[in-house]
Amino acid sequence: MRILVIGSGGREHALLKGLKADPLVSQLHAAPGSAAFAQLATVHPEYSQVDDPARMLELAQAISPDLVVVGPEVPLVAGVADVLREQGFAVFGPSQAAAQIEGSKQFAKEVMAAAGVATARAEQLTPGAQDGDIEAALDRFGPHFVVKDDGLAGGKGVVVTQDRAQARAHVDAVLAAGNPVLLESFLEGPEVSLFCLVDGETVVPLLPAQDHKRAFDGDQGPNTGGMGAYTPLPWLPADGVSRIVEEVCVPVAREMVRRGTPYSGLLYAGLAWGPQGPAVVEFNCRFGDPETQAVLSLLRSPLAQVLHATATGTLAQLPPLEWEDGYAVTVVLAAEGYPAAPVKGAQITSPDLGDTAKILHAGTAAAGQGFVASGGRVLNVLGKGPQLADARAAAYAVLDQVDMPGGFYRSDIGLAAAEGQISV
Ligand code: GLY
Repeated sequence: MRILVIGSGGREHALLKGLKADPLVSQLHAAPGSAAFAQLATVHPEYSQVDDPARMLELAQAISPDLVVVGPEVPLVAGVADVLREQGFAVFGPSQAAAQIEGSKQFAKEVMAAAGVATARAEQLTPGAQDGDIEAALDRFGPHFVVKDDGLAGGKGVVVTQDRAQARAHVDAVLAAGNPVLLESFLEGPEVSLFCLVDGETVVPLLPAQDHKRAFDGDQGPNTGGMGAYTPLPWLPADGVSRIVEEVCVPVAREMVRRGTPYSGLLYAGLAWGPQGPAVVEFNCRFGDPETQAVLSLLRSPLAQVLHATATGTLAQLPPLEWEDGYAVTVVLAAEGYPAAPVKGAQITSPDLGDTAKILHAGTAAAGQGFVASGGRVLNVLGKGPQLADARAAAYAVLDQVDMPGGFYRSDIGLAAAEGQISV
């Protein structure tokens, strides 16, 4: 199988690593990829406009892949999967219409309402909203304010705060940018990321994971794209995954079919596990980053065959997924100034920079014989072990060997779970 992966971050590095391990894979390509990906795939740095369907089609026609895997949400929301499918390519990733589940928070709320899925109460404000309407809407929420840009915002769209002035400032900023904004009630309980392969009404869950979104230890600091994750979740009730599948993912998949926009690809359910069980915080239309780096490290089933079955409408015939026992942890090494203003160019040194069992490259560029930071999230360090504490120790032992001036990471990824401090 010849496969093209679209994207260039740690998630795509994890996808390429998993695909490479599938014996049916003969050739891997990445667009644009990064210098570190060249170990696994032919990289196409000249195809950096991943949200330009015509450019992605041009590359696919040049390569003739048996499968195209679209990593990030931006090309999916831009309709890249549709254009490739129209030309006969098998694509892992939803259509533009189905990707609205992430592309518009309001759309996701409408789907959930129709499907009877538990989620936060929400109100939408649109550009031009009057000061009095905004203040009245804020009065109906709090003390935790959850303010979301309706559209894609590259991880900067959500503010969760108890500071009403900060909530108001985010409302104003989103509206001033010309986008609708959602105010939501705050959902209590530990967060779960559950990724499901979806092919019409067929839903196959992967292992549940938990991300850590705040920049600093103890869930302090600004929201980020995610600073680290662990999988599976030792605190999740035994029927936790099946409840999420039955109460959330299957009803949503059916509703998408009913609307005439069936979902095909990866449906990421971001949930809070509250007193009543799972409630949806958000959906994403692609693999999560960095949870994927940990989740796929435990997958035993051949990844290319799994993604190809999803893309070609044969997911129901796929044998049950097989997983390694034990736990996996990924810790993000971020650049100085991340997330507000990451500093690029810091030299990275580590004996493990070329070992994808230990380090995946999220935002690096080649410099001389080595690598420098070229993004906010720079490396995803991996650890596995029979217990969560062992996986944590393995990941942090790799990090101890990494040097990157100004870089920082959280020291508490998976710690509360490993210490048994999370209960539902
Ligand atoms: N881990 C959060 C995300 O992928 O959106």
